Amino acid sequence: MVEIKDVKKIAEEEIRLVNTIEKLENFENKYLSKKGILTRILRSLKKLNPEERKKVGKEANELKEFLKKEIDFRRKQLKERDVEEKEKKEWIDITIPAKKIERGHIHPITLIRTQIEDIFQKMGFSIVEGPEIENEWYNFDALNIPKEHPARDMWDTFWLRQNGLKMQNSKLKMNQRLLLRTHTSPVQIRYMEKHKPPIRIIAPGRIFRYEATDASHEINFYQVEGLMIDRNISIANFKFIMEEFFKEFFGKETKIRLRPSFFPFTEPSFEIDVKCSICNGKGCSVCSYRGWIEMAGAGMVHPNVLKAVKINSEEWQGFAFGLGLDRLTMMKYKINDIRLFYSGDLRFLKQF
Ligand code: PHE
Repeated sequence: MVEIKDVKKIAEEEIRLVNTIEKLENFENKYLSKKGILTRILRSLKKLNPEERKKVGKEANELKEFLKKEIDFRRKQLKERDVEEKEKKEWIDITIPAKKIERGHIHPITLIRTQIEDIFQKMGFSIVEGPEIENEWYNFDALNIPKEHPARDMWDTFWLRQNGLKMQNSKLKMNQRLLLRTHTSPVQIRYMEKHKPPIRIIAPGRIFRYEATDASHEINFYQVEGLMIDRNISIANFKFIMEEFFKEFFGKETKIRLRPSFFPFTEPSFEIDVKCSICNGKGCSVCSYRGWIEMAGAGMVHPNVLKAVKINSEEWQGFAFGLGLDRLTMMKYKINDIRLFYSGDLRFLKQF
């Protein structure tokens, strides 16, 4: 029979060398598990005579308790040491300068939109908005563009489906078919339905056209609609406001020209061109080698439009215009491709 005190001596020496949790577990298994040394000693007690059994049994149990306590103590020590080491490794240097949070950039179109809004606000215009999903009535009919009118070809349109039907072919409700607005002009109608003249508004917003893209065409872009209705408004007033705007926006030397044009909702109608600043009038891909760039459609509000919103055209007249916000931005910053605005390319956007 082994002497308990020898076992204890060896065990004490062994535990002193234990320096990891893993080794501690091996130690515990070696002495206290089902097949461990102490378990075996206690089991073999039955072979001894009663006196010895009592003595050795007592010593063995004492050793068991002793080892349990030692193991617990050592476990605690090792755990504390591990936590300390981990903390040392994870030490944070709070004096290191923080990583800079990168500032976002305002999109160039937004920048220019606010500049335009400022200029018109100074001239007494209010800023209003309308929905991007429109119905046929506001986008076309109320603007004197009845169904089947060839002028509808001027606007390539995204029609929306409703109840699984292609809206374009549905006969559900007259003029209620939904579409993505092809211009901001429907905001004129929405505003005049709710407000009495005199009116002086601009309506910036996003519009949509179903067409092929290239350096100067996108399937969505931005316009700034303008509308002024008052007594005795003439083309002279219109020209003055436009010249004021372009001079304020591009600088005093800016050259603009009015070209006769056609829109069903204005009569007479004009196209406002600005001398191309990319090539200074010589001709380039942005101005389609014309030297001038079309910046707006405009004209005197057609009496039929006023009739559609129940405004007496004998008493009230006015003008309307639709500025191309993308083009204004391109000219201002000499950007030669409209697609850059919608590409999400940070190398482009970070320059503003
Ligand atoms: N809505 C026209 C377009 O998108 C522009 C326009 C606006 C013309 C107002 C006349 C008056 O082409």
